[in-house]
Amino acid sequence: MNFKSFRKNLIYTQMLHKMQYFSDQEGIMRRYIQEKNNWDLHLKKSKDFILKSAETKKKGKVVILGSGWLLDLPIDELSNQFEEVILVDIIHPKQVLHKIKKYKNVTALKADITGGLIDFIYHSLKTDKRKKQKTLISAANSFSFSLPKNTDFVISLNIMCQLHIILIDYIKKHYNLTDSELHNLILQIQQSHIRMLPDEKSCIITDMEEEILTETDQTIGIKPLVQIKLSKGNFSSSWQWKFDSLMTYKDDVKTFFNTTAIDF
Ligand SMILES: C[S@@+](CC[C@H](N)C(=O)[O-])C[C@H]1O[C@@H](n2cnc3c(N)ncnc32)[C@H](O)[C@@H]1O
Repeated sequence: MNFKSFRKNLIYTQMLHKMQYFSDQEGIMRRYIQEKNNWDLHLKKSKDFILKSAETKKKGKVVILGSGWLLDLPIDELSNQFEEVILVDIIHPKQVLHKIKKYKNVTALKADITGGLIDFIYHSLKTDKRKKQKTLISAANSFSFSLPKNTDFVISLNIMCQLHIILIDYIKKHYNLTDSELHNLILQIQQSHIRMLPDEKSCIITDMEEEILTETDQTIGIKPLVQIKLSKGNFSSSWQWKFDSLMTYKDDVKTFFNTTAIDF
């Protein structure tokens, strides 16, 4: 790596730190260790669904969007079944980079799945904030991620509702967007994500709702996380992910996610 690309890489990494991408990913592993028993069911269901969806796909190139810690990915099986496995994430934990060395056909691609929106939002603040704020929502529509050429199977892996969460938290701290503008932005991000998943070559696993419960498991609130209508696909499955039963994610309440997987 020459000095110019080293510097570029460093600046990009600093941006991801400031926008909390690193701490968010570390948080996933921390919570998994705390909640292992509750999470294992969700992780198994995710892996089983992916393998069922893989059955009908051509076994050339599989691309995984939001691979993270590979907790919910049947990597051994995919590596055996497909010629090439490409893991896509904005950050690949070094433990994962080490782990995949044992597979000859697995590579890690560091990329922003929104197609550059992270960088755009971060740098908009450094320039003309007021002017950029107005164009932020319309600009969001023009960003899209290009899948690697000749992709045979794409797995959107528990990432669709994550794509906006960090961005919206960051925007709320630095911009004055109204609730309806924020809602529009989420719509654009989710629509753009679905648009890039090719028909008959995809599966998506996503949290649809966040459910808040008391200590004694009484539901006291449900917040929708996906703002667009998803197709029924060829087949689907839904389950509850007991994300936080120890009441550490939100004070004094439990947080569960209602998760859906669709093959299309
Ligand atoms: C909830 S995790 C998905 C679970 C993941 N499969 C695992 O086992 O850790 C979401 C992942 O999406 C990644 N991510 C979030 N926004 C992203 C973006 N715009 N582009 C690429 N990756 C992103 C995060 O770094 C994280 O690893």
